[in-house]
Order: sequence, then structure tokens, then C-alpha cells
Amino acid sequence: MTAGPQDIERAVEILRGGGLVGLPTETVYGLAADASSDAAVARIYEAKGRPPGHPVIVHLAGLEHLDGWVRAVPEPALRLAGALWPGPLTLVVPKGPRTSRLVTGGRHDVGVRVPDHPVALAVLRRFGGGLAAPSANRFGRVSPTTAADVLHDLGDRVDLVLDGGPCEVGLESTIVSFVGEPTLLRPGGVPVELIEAIIEQPLATAAADDRSAPGTLPSHYAPEAGVVLVDADEVWSRCVALLHGGSRVGALVPRGVRLPDGVRRLDAPDDEAEAARSLYAQLRSADRLGLDVLVAVAPDPIGLGRAITDRLRRAAHPDR
Ligand code: TXA
Ligand code: MG
Repeated sequence: MTAGPQDIERAVEILRGGGLVGLPTETVYGLAADASSDAAVARIYEAKGRPPGHPVIVHLAGLEHLDGWVRAVPEPALRLAGALWPGPLTLVVPKGPRTSRLVTGGRHDVGVRVPDHPVALAVLRRFGGGLAAPSANRFGRVSPTTAADVLHDLGDRVDLVLDGGPCEVGLESTIVSFVGEPTLLRPGGVPVELIEAIIEQPLATAAADDRSAPGTLPSHYAPEAGVVLVDADEVWSRCVALLHGGSRVGALVPRGVRLPDGVRRLDAPDDEAEAARSLYAQLRSADRLGLDVLVAVAPDPIGLGRAITDRLRRAAHPDR
């Protein structure tokens, strides 16, 4: 049931007391704590099992709340914020005095975002300050897109989970750094093409081994099942080989691609917004179904397809 005013009051009380709240946003559920309390932020790292040195995003109620958290926001970043907030966009800009080194993982810049979800916005407005919130999953695993996912992953480690229904976007925010040339650190819920059109310049991309987005490790967003990325015309032969090897095989492939008997088909909608919305639920269902391997076809890397492809690649990365 969607969180009501009393749940929001309770969440704010918990946050003021240094507690942790599972918070719905339009992208994925966050694990929120008072960004101005290092003790509260330290609890996030502990609950997630996240190594230190990974910055967390500061969530705010609106553009007018940036004061103190950031300094010197360049004009193109302000233009993006004006056009796309509230929304699935995180801006990395020089940090202000209110942002602690724990929040930034020791860095001099901070990621800030205004989420587009009525429950998140109600909590933020009532709370008044900034909320540090990474995705509410154990480190390296698939991000949660329902309150039940959060309870499953972190139920015994959070003080409260607010239910805001399934996330509309389903993938994390797009992260753009404005420290130096505008640079894409993570593709996400806002297509890169839209950002480039608004700032009227192309985004640089961070090199694969660049540590400027320390959490964007090659292996991330990974289900228990092994993910194998293939071209559409290889799906059949790959599935047959895996079945012969004794694996329980699932497939996350376009609806038009045929599958051999014995392969469990997971739904991969053709519409890119729907595909994004359901991607993490499908990766989680692979584990619930006890699949050993998930054979997947990545969409074209344009629009939201870029973020979907990015997540599938990380899920498929062998380093884990
Ligand atoms: O959609 C989202 O962004 C969600 C919701 C909850 O807002 N949050 C999220 O947080 O995905 P997290 O911590 O799971 O991923 C944030 C990414 C990490 O890879 C982190 O390293 C990067 O953002 N990041 C945060 N602050 C940064 C900074 N100052 N510089 C570079 N990267 C930063
Ligand atoms: Mg995350």
C-alpha cells in the first residue's frame, strides 16, 4: 500500500534520529539517511556492505535547496537542472561546505539530484535537508524497483521502507559531471541525446577504467544467475549448448526471437521505456526461478537502450 502522511511523518522522524529509510524514487528505491550526519551516512555503507570511498548522491527537494551542498554550478548544469528536475538526472559539481567527505568518498565534488516521486518529494520537503541515498540493494547486486525488493535485500537493516509502488523509470539516474568538460559518468533514465540537445554540446564519456564514478565498476547490477550477452542470431545455438551442458537456461531476448524447448522466456518488451522499467524485475526473477544462466540480447545503444545495454554488460561481466 502506498505510503500515506503518517508513514511520511514517521520516516522524517527516523531520518532526523539518524536512521535509515527505504525511499521510493522514480528510478529505483534508495536507502536514505540524513546527509548532514556522518554517523547516519556511515550506517548506509554498513547496511549495503559497500566499501568506503564510494560517493553517495545527495537528494534535495528542489533546485532552490542546492545552497551549501554545492558551489559554483556551471551554467549548462543549471540549465539541465532547470529543464529536467525533478527527474532521473544526477549532476556532479564541486561540493559545498554542507557536504561532508564521507558523503563524497573523500572527493571534492558531489552528486546531487531532485527525484521525481511524490513520496520522495514529500519526505524531502518535510525533512528540509539533504538525503544521502544510494540504491537500496546490497553492494554490487541488482537495484530494487519495489518496496518488496528492498525488504528482501535489506529488510533487517533498515528502520522503515516506504512503499511508493513500482518505479516508473526502473533504471538509475543518468550521471553527468561538470568538473571539467561535461562528461557522462553513467547512462540512465534521461537519454544522453536529450542532455546534449539541452546543453547544445556533446558529452565526453569517462574511460572504462576511469575512477571518477567509483561505483560504476565493470561488474555491477548482477543477479546470481550468470548473464551471457549474445547477438539475436546466436540465441538459439547458445541456448542449445547451455541446455546440453545441464544448465537451467532463461532468455531475455526480443519477443520475435525463437527459443528451443526447455528455455524459460523472460519478458523483454519492445518498447524501450517498458523494457527499462521491467529490466531489474526480470533479472531478479532469474534468481527466483533458480536459473543458472540468462541469455540476453542487448538493445541498440540509443535513447534508453544505452542504459539498458550498460546494465546488461555489467551484469554479464565475468569479474564476480
Ligand atoms: O537513480 C539514482 O541515481 C539512485 C536513486 C536512489 O536516486 N541512486 C543511485 O545511487 O543509483 P548509487 O549510489 O547506487 O549510484 C550512484 C553512483 C555511484 O556509482 C557513485 O559512485 C556515483 O553515482 N557518484 C555519486 N557521487 C559521485 C561523485 N561526486 N562523483 C562521481 N560519481 C559519483
Ligand atoms: Mg547502486
